[in-house]
Amino acid sequence: MATKTVIRQVSEHVGETVSIGSWVNNKRSSGKIQFLQLRDGTGYIQGVIVKSEVSEEVWDKAKSLTQESSLYVQGIIREEPRSASGYEMTVTDLDIIHITENYPITPKEHGVDFLMDHRHLWLRSSKQRAVMVIRAQIIRAIQEYFDTNGFTLVDPPILTPTSAEGTTNLFHTKYFEEDAYLTQSGQLYMEAAAMALGKVYSFGPTFRAEKSKTRRHLIEFWMIEPEMAFTDHEESLKVQEQFIAHVVQSVVKNCRMELEAVGRDITKLENITAPFPRITYDEAIEYLHTQEFDIPWGEDFGAPHETAIAERYDKPVFITHYPAGIKAFYMKPDPNNADVVLCADMIAPEGYGEIIGGSQRIDDPELMEQRFKEHDLSTDAYQWYLDLRKYGTVPHSGFGLGLERTVAWICGLDHVRETIPFPRTLYRLYP
Ligand code: 4AD
Ligand code: MG
Repeated sequence: MATKTVIRQVSEHVGETVSIGSWVNNKRSSGKIQFLQLRDGTGYIQGVIVKSEVSEEVWDKAKSLTQESSLYVQGIIREEPRSASGYEMTVTDLDIIHITENYPITPKEHGVDFLMDHRHLWLRSSKQRAVMVIRAQIIRAIQEYFDTNGFTLVDPPILTPTSAEGTTNLFHTKYFEEDAYLTQSGQLYMEAAAMALGKVYSFGPTFRAEKSKTRRHLIEFWMIEPEMAFTDHEESLKVQEQFIAHVVQSVVKNCRMELEAVGRDITKLENITAPFPRITYDEAIEYLHTQEFDIPWGEDFGAPHETAIAERYDKPVFITHYPAGIKAFYMKPDPNNADVVLCADMIAPEGYGEIIGGSQRIDDPELMEQRFKEHDLSTDAYQWYLDLRKYGTVPHSGFGLGLERTVAWICGLDHVRETIPFPRTLYRLYP
């Protein structure tokens, strides 16, 4: 009986006969030899079938294989320096599980809508697989950073009675007799958790009913939200740059093959080390005016503004001290200038836009109550949030990283739809 293995581990079986559960990615034949391009999810290997060395039955079975047919393939693993993986299999036998007919995704070009309709199959392609492997490594690196730097993982709720980031893009649902919303951000709950545990982070799905059809927006996306007690804005920026540098370098170190499969320029990623450049909102406005943008002070930046600013740097850049009027109600005003708040957006290089939004939070109960009134938020609904300021308030800061935008940047993808297995984009819920 041949040992069962996976393609990732063939290096441990050189010279042995093994069996691998696999799919046919592609196939070519030269009359006397058939070459099977096989994949099993863990990697790719070429199976070589020599007509003179196998029975007629095995030769004919191989001939009947089509793209995406499934089989157990048996053969001897050989080192093969000319192949990308370094190994090849000399096929001795095969058990067909299923012959696929008319696989819809062929090696030719397909339109985006067609691919999105077939996302469940598109995921099998080598580029999409590589993106998923990199996404998993990014998640591992994120957890590694926080777990080894004194943060405790805390899970905020998904169903919430109030909004955290403004009321315009809430997903509404009924919670028995009450109204409820899918969470836009776990931040407010993470602030409560920070007062209980010191340094905390969450990792979960968030939802925004945004009618934005851009390459940066998803309706459902995953956010990582650290929150730190006894931490000011400046200290938070230091955590952010170290954290992002760790994540990028971890992918560079562990996913070289996958980065090559997605066509990423790895030298650009190797360069991502702390510290990151910083400019204030005021400086950014001044610069934009020199670049023929006529954006007035007090207006929020759109994608073209962010891109113009980021183009000046080869690392992510922090834009700090935005006007209070365009930022969330909970951000702490700058003690030196109450018109702006102690916040920063981290803008990724190469036009990938904002990947992190963060700030120091208001810790003064009276100012917080005043903000509720200004923003027309019911003090009843947020009473618990006010309690955090009433009982042992402390300076604290936190931020939120958008996972999919981070994956898009690290993989060098044009659109966030390829960064998540089953994207929820404007008006698309299938598959
Ligand atoms: O800037 P945002 O809205 O910040 C917050 O939600 C804060 N409460 C976070 C915090 O301080 N704890 O969102 C944070 C990040 C953005 O920088 C972006 O990367 C991502 O979440 N994001 C989106 N990603 C994909 N699709 C969308 N529609 C997104 N909206 C925000
Ligand atoms: Mg933001």
